[in-house]
Amino acid sequence: MDIEDVIEEVLQKIVPSEEEKRFIKTLMEEIKEKAKETIEELNLNAKPYFVGSLAKDTYLAGDHDVDLFIAFPLDTGLEELKEKGLEIGKALGNKLGKYEIAYAEHPYVRAKYKGVKVDIVPCYDVKSWKDVRTAVDRSILHTKWVLENLHGRNNEVRLFKRFLKGINAYGSEIYVRGFSGYLAEILIIEFGSFLSVLEKADFMLRKKIIDPKEWIKKESEIAMKTIKREVEEDKPLIVIDPVDPRRNVAANLSWERFGLFYFSSIQFLKKPSLEFFFPTKKGEDYREELRRKGTHIITLLFTPPDLVDDLLLPQVEKTAKGLAKALEIEGFKVFGVDYGRNFIFLEVDRVEKPRIEIKKGPLYFTSHGRRFYEKNERVWIEGKDLMAEKKVSGFIVEVLEEIFKKGQFSAGKNVKEAITSSDILIDFVPKSLSNEAYLFLSREKFSVKRNTS
Ligand code: UTP
Ligand code: MN
Repeated sequence: MDIEDVIEEVLQKIVPSEEEKRFIKTLMEEIKEKAKETIEELNLNAKPYFVGSLAKDTYLAGDHDVDLFIAFPLDTGLEELKEKGLEIGKALGNKLGKYEIAYAEHPYVRAKYKGVKVDIVPCYDVKSWKDVRTAVDRSILHTKWVLENLHGRNNEVRLFKRFLKGINAYGSEIYVRGFSGYLAEILIIEFGSFLSVLEKADFMLRKKIIDPKEWIKKESEIAMKTIKREVEEDKPLIVIDPVDPRRNVAANLSWERFGLFYFSSIQFLKKPSLEFFFPTKKGEDYREELRRKGTHIITLLFTPPDLVDDLLLPQVEKTAKGLAKALEIEGFKVFGVDYGRNFIFLEVDRVEKPRIEIKKGPLYFTSHGRRFYEKNERVWIEGKDLMAEKKVSGFIVEVLEEIFKKGQFSAGKNVKEAITSSDILIDFVPKSLSNEAYLFLSREKFSVKRNTS
């Protein structure tokens, strides 16, 4: 298939139909009306704004998350904003249907209306980056900037987003660390089209800095500070936010996810296919991988503390790495680790090691030597030295339990307790994790070599 045909076919699947667009338009109008009504009834001073891909018309067909921001005047106190924001959220949530409270930097309401998820998020009504006070305040400015600069290239954004999803590089959530929707939009605006963005994969890595708003000229001190900070943190890409020179839009993009984009771009341009956008799921078996590799998988299952992903996952990561190191010290080889909200995977070379270690003692004709002789059971001589056997746990579960008991491993402080009372499973994972285990063991998660047969 040549590239135009592939793109044509993808567009047919991802561009919303006129009917769908009308549905969204009506939906947004109705929600806005109800939001205004709610704010008035509560006698509050706040304005509803739509942000996100629905407001920018860059959503994918069938993918309708409404991001409704409730913007408060700048002179509102932070506590008041949180409280009143939640009050509006709950009242509006009730009008829309059912809702639940979700947590990010501050709590917000997640409602459902006509089968569509509606996030109701309080923020400050900022006019410039200088007013930004909470993490979500920039979104209104982002929406405005994209609307002013996209110039009809909405479907190019859609193609790029679908491509990123297909190759597993979309989403700025902490458990992905891929491209955000906003980053995708900026790259399309900067390079002009989906295909030119792909062609520029290597170029942008080398150039490193993308600065659409030319902050380096206009606010050079602040922009240089951002660049310096991000370079020091070894980020693959620095995209100075057009609406805020202090921020790198690609701050959460990992080298792995950029790498997926990097290799997939080269491969797609060389041999285009629908597979990149809509990969056929291979429901492979992790047990097959274990047999092929001759390795073992240890799964720790725990009940996580009640924390948002952004706080929880870095702690689980730290603990997973700490445990890997502790196992290495105990003589196991750890080939890899992976983790999620309630589990840690460790891939190891074996599940059992010898039940003894050999201790070298002092010279046999010294007083230390005599004490060593008394204290140990099995003692022999090698040259001038006394030697002895030391009994140790051989089975990895026992070794892990000892590591847990001693607690001498690096760990996240809010998760250490939960993780040290994990269930330990060997070469068996619960059904809900079996695909995750396959992706981990096969390293397909970050695989860059495609079977192009
Ligand atoms: P979303 O993650 O919902 O992205 O963030 P989106 O643009 O609506 O894309 P899809 O189609 O739902 O996937 C909503 C807004 O939050 C801000 C952006 O302003 C974005 O438009 N945001 C979100 C960021 O600036 N950075 C992020 O990492 C995530
Ligand atoms: Mn969205």
